[in-house]
This record gives sequence, structure tokens and C-alpha cells, in this order.
Amino acid sequence: MKTRRLLIGVAAVGLALSLAACSGGRASTTTSSASSNNKGALVGVAMPTKVSERWIKDGDAVKSDLEKLGYKVDLEYADNKIPQQVLQVSNMITKGAKILIVASIDGGSLSDQLDTAAKAGIKVISYDRLLTGDKNVDYYVSFDNYKVGVDQANSLLTGLGVLDAAGKPTGKKGPFNVELFAGSADDNNATFFFNGAMDTLKKYIDDGTIVIKSGQTGFTQVATQQWDPATAKARMQNLVAKSYSDGSNVNGVLSPYDGLSIGIISALQGAGYGSATKPLPIITGQDAEAASVKSIIAGQQYSTVYKDTRKLADKAAEMANDILTGKTPQVNDTKSYDNKVKVVPTFLFQPTVVTKDNYKKVLLDSGYYTEADLK
Ligand code: GAL
Repeated sequence: MKTRRLLIGVAAVGLALSLAACSGGRASTTTSSASSNNKGALVGVAMPTKVSERWIKDGDAVKSDLEKLGYKVDLEYADNKIPQQVLQVSNMITKGAKILIVASIDGGSLSDQLDTAAKAGIKVISYDRLLTGDKNVDYYVSFDNYKVGVDQANSLLTGLGVLDAAGKPTGKKGPFNVELFAGSADDNNATFFFNGAMDTLKKYIDDGTIVIKSGQTGFTQVATQQWDPATAKARMQNLVAKSYSDGSNVNGVLSPYDGLSIGIISALQGAGYGSATKPLPIITGQDAEAASVKSIIAGQQYSTVYKDTRKLADKAAEMANDILTGKTPQVNDTKSYDNKVKVVPTFLFQPTVVTKDNYKKVLLDSGYYTEADLK
């Protein structure tokens, strides 16, 4: 096996040299050797789970984009199990993938694989979630995760009537009882979302407009391991039982992800929320998953943050194609995403808040969903 790889390597170098000779040895010859060597190359795409609809959309879109560009694709889902993802990425390397596109479960769990990949000359694109603790992460493509948190907090404030539709303070002072949820601590995005939201809510908490009745305001207190809806549901049930048994109501919930919002709504409905006298609180979300958009249309969840997975997928495929054809991928952020070892060159897209008022324009007119998808 080793000898074979060595021979292929020698042949590749030979080809590169002869191409260099033909074109007079200009730097651009790397490009032609890269493109000819990598035609039809295998790209490994590792996704975390199929439980959440968004990752299915992501995986399908990345795969079809890459196949249109002539590449072979090994697309794997890891059922939210870290050892399974570790094995899948190892297998992609063994199968000879030239690029890895990885949406991790635990951003810090793939270091051995990243090191092996680097030694084999395989480039790594971190997809939506940053791979942390290793220098062998070449590019990152995501949405502006801090801004997602800011958007979630602002929509919570708008839903409560503290801000108007234009984002201006209305002078309404509440006090409003709010509970906070964050994502999985092993996902780098979760702290970005939480920090963006808390930086935005801080002054309203400080002046008493917003009251976190449970007193649980620290990230580790409010984090939800593996973004698990059942965990969020159990925590919401607990909060209601412990902090609202005096007859007071929850008026708002900061939820960072649609799946959690569904668990939170279910807990609240179980505790009697959802009637005219005891309405559901203002609840945020993220990902514009079909079930949650339906919930928004039905007047349960208040908002979600839409991140067009098609754009993310197109960019990841474009980055892979650039690398494989010897071009430098385009990035637009070279300072925000420090993975604890290096700042990873990043391409960020901007998120969009979706409520009942704009879902048709944002989600239907753009073709992200059809009307039938949301029935
Ligand atoms: C995050 C991602 C969110 C959401 C969440 C749960 O990493 O950025 O959009 O999907 O995971 O899957």
C-alpha cells in the first residue's frame, strides 16, 4: 500500500515537473498539475446528524454541488456520536479523499484525523462549526455566529415590545420574565450565539426590564449538550416548576435553535401555556426548520434565524474546487475565528430573522420552501 502511494506520488511529481517544463516553469504550473491530478477526486463530507433537518439539506446540497463539478463524494452522517464521526473521517482519509468538509459534533475531537490528513496533503474545510485545537484546519465557512445571537436577542426584545419593528426602544419597561438557553458546549458556535445574545440583552437585564427569574445566566448553566430537544424540554419543565410556582408567568425564552424551541414549547404547553389567559412566551430559534416555521405560522414560536444552507453548501463546494484546481479560496474574515491554535481563514454569510410577518418573502420567494412544505 505504502509503496503504491509512493509510486503514485513520484508519478505526480514527475507529471508536475514535465508540465512545468512545457510551460516554461511559471508558478501557474502548480495550477495545471493540481487541476489535472484532482479531476474527479474524492471529497469526504462529514455531517453530524440526520435528526435535524438542516444537516440533511446541507449534506445533500454539498454532495450535489460537488458532483456537478465532477467530483466523487463520500457523504457520512454520524448520528451525533463522536466515535462514529472519528471513524468516518479516518475512513475518508484511507479511501483517498483529497479534501475533507467537516461539520463536527465536538469541534475538538478530530485532531488525530486532522494531523493525519495534513501529512497526506489533504486540505480541511470546517463546515458551519469550527474545528478547534488543531492547526490543520485550512478554511472555515459559516454564518456570522455572533450576529445570529444578536439577532435572536433583538427579536426576543421586539416580540416582547421592548423594541419596535425598526429596532428602536419603545420605552416599555416590563418587567418581563425571561429564561435563557444555549447550545452544546462542545460546539464553538454555541458561545458565539450566547455572547451575541447576552451582549444585546445585558442593558435590559441591568435596568430590570428583563428578569431572569431562575437566576441561571451563565453559559454552562444554560447550555444544552448535543443540542438535544429532550434535554431542553426537561430543563424548561424544571424551570417552570422551581421558579414559577408562585403564579408568575414566563414571558420570553431565548432559544438558540429550532429543535430546542420545539422541546421548550412542548414543556410549556404541558404546564398549561398556550391559552388566551396564559399565552406562550416569546420564543426565538434558529435554522428555519420546517416544523418550526409551521409553529411560527401557527403563532407558537415567535421567530427563527434563517441561514440559507444552499449558500453555505455552494461556498464549501467552491472552496473545495478552488483548492483542487490550485486557486486560493475567497475569504472575508481573517480575525474572528481563533480555534485556540490558529485563526482560521473564514467566509461568513449574514443571517436573517424570520417571523410570521416575513416568512413568505424570505422562505417562499427564495425557493427555500414551497407552500406545500409548510402545510
Ligand atoms: C449549530 C448550527 C446551528 C444549529 C445547531 C444545532 O452549530 O450553527 O445552525 O444547526 O448547530 O444543529
